Amino acid sequence: MNTIIRQLTLADVPYVYDICLKTGNNGKDASELFMDPYMIGQYYAAPYLFYEIDVCFAAVNNDAAYKRPSGYIIGTSDSASYYEWFYSVWIPQVQLLYPRDSIFKSPNEKRISKIIYEKNETPDGEILKEYPAHLHIDLLSELQGRGAGKSLMNTFFEALKKKDCKGLHLGVSKDNENAVGFYKKIGFNILEESQYSFLLGIKF
Ligand SMILES: CC(C)(COP(=O)(O)OP(=O)(O)OC[C@H]1O[C@@H](n2cnc3c(N)ncnc32)[C@H](O)[C@@H]1OP(=O)(O)O)[C@@H](O)C(=O)NCCC(=O)NCCS
Repeated sequence: MNTIIRQLTLADVPYVYDICLKTGNNGKDASELFMDPYMIGQYYAAPYLFYEIDVCFAAVNNDAAYKRPSGYIIGTSDSASYYEWFYSVWIPQVQLLYPRDSIFKSPNEKRISKIIYEKNETPDGEILKEYPAHLHIDLLSELQGRGAGKSLMNTFFEALKKKDCKGLHLGVSKDNENAVGFYKKIGFNILEESQYSFLLGIKF
């Protein structure tokens, strides 16, 4: 497979929602867990394209007939500013779509609905100062294990360095052992550990 990395554009938004859903259950397909296929992407994926698209990249199977993204890395170089925008501008629009008393298909959907209304915990100020960027990286299964994750990471690091950003954090569930192994191989260290998740960080 000939994989290329390119900048994401707003025309890619539908594919970003699709990839987010198909990797949304600790790296596995979450399609059966959501009444609304877009809900998970409303929280974890689409907003990054509307906030700081110049640090968002696609992995594309260049042998395929259509050049849709099959993987992405999305994030921000400044998490503190991102969260301010996210909770004041983006989330109120998302709340219009998902009333508090919605019916849920799974605990996963219930959890996203809850964090749409109650701010999710964000890393403390010291971490945001030392590791200001954060990211999400997801590849459809056919693209995994072929070096695309590493290429996306390196492209993202270069984009952050151009913005004088010196560090990056991310959260990962302990159940997603594949992703934890990948991040450690890339060079991330554990900053914090809770019962179910790690907060990882890397400096450039
Ligand atoms: C996690 C993910 C991004 C990794 O991307 P990938 O393209 O599969 O990984 P790569 O092939 O680029 O691997 C890069 C390096 O990490 C190593 N690696 C990958 N997974 C590993 C693992 N579980 N344990 C140890 N090393 C691992 C590879 O061997 C490779 O090493 P090399 O540089 O010596 O060749 C991808 O598998 C994925 O999208 N998974 C589903 C969604 C997901 O879980 N996202 C993370 C949510 S927090």
